[in-house]
Amino acid sequence: MHKIAVGGLLTTTGLLTLTAAPAAADVRQAPDCAEVECVALTFDDGPGEHTDELLDMLDEHDAKATFYVLGSKIDAYTDVVRRMVDQDHEVGNHTWDHADLATLSADQIKDDLKRTDQAIERATGQVPATMRPPYGSLDDTARGAIDKPMLLWDVDTLDWQHRDPAKTVDITTRETGQGSVVLFHDIHKTSVEAIPEVLDRLSDEGYEFVTVSEMMGSDMVGGTAYSDARSMD
Ligand code: NI
Repeated sequence: MHKIAVGGLLTTTGLLTLTAAPAAADVRQAPDCAEVECVALTFDDGPGEHTDELLDMLDEHDAKATFYVLGSKIDAYTDVVRRMVDQDHEVGNHTWDHADLATLSADQIKDDLKRTDQAIERATGQVPATMRPPYGSLDDTARGAIDKPMLLWDVDTLDWQHRDPAKTVDITTRETGQGSVVLFHDIHKTSVEAIPEVLDRLSDEGYEFVTVSEMMGSDMVGGTAYSDARSMD
């Protein structure tokens, strides 16, 4: 009960502050993941032709997610990438064209990530705070060359492989725990089709849908790999 009372007090204070500063009125108040169960849904390899529909689904649930986008796809979907940021989702760097970073030199890795950062910044006005290595592939050279937090995952839906919405729902609901980072690919129609039920079921279990930076943000260290919020401890 004490914790709830403290949360209420903080919320009230936040609202008063917002009233005094109208320009900040639509700044999102993210859930406190020390108080509630949080999960970070992440979507890789897009944007693609189904991403806009996915954004509608997330918006209906007021769910926030993280998109690890490919720099090479941004020009064709500038409006979609901008919409991600407008809806308070997080956009992360997933390289220019899905290179296996363990096969590249440090300079090649830095150039690739920088080019992708610049494309994301051009579209959204924001430089991504986190990156995800394609295939989760990292070697010592890559670890040394990357200065952002590297986000892996603890729940792998294998959606790209089985292309079965029911399986995607099943794996997600079975394997998700407090602080999980769940991997999907929004380039597949079948993955996007799974999302309404994923949101319903996890929401019924009490989960709040937050971005990776909301869930782990201020404690993440550049150049370090994380698979979920529990890996922070
Ligand atoms: Ni990928």
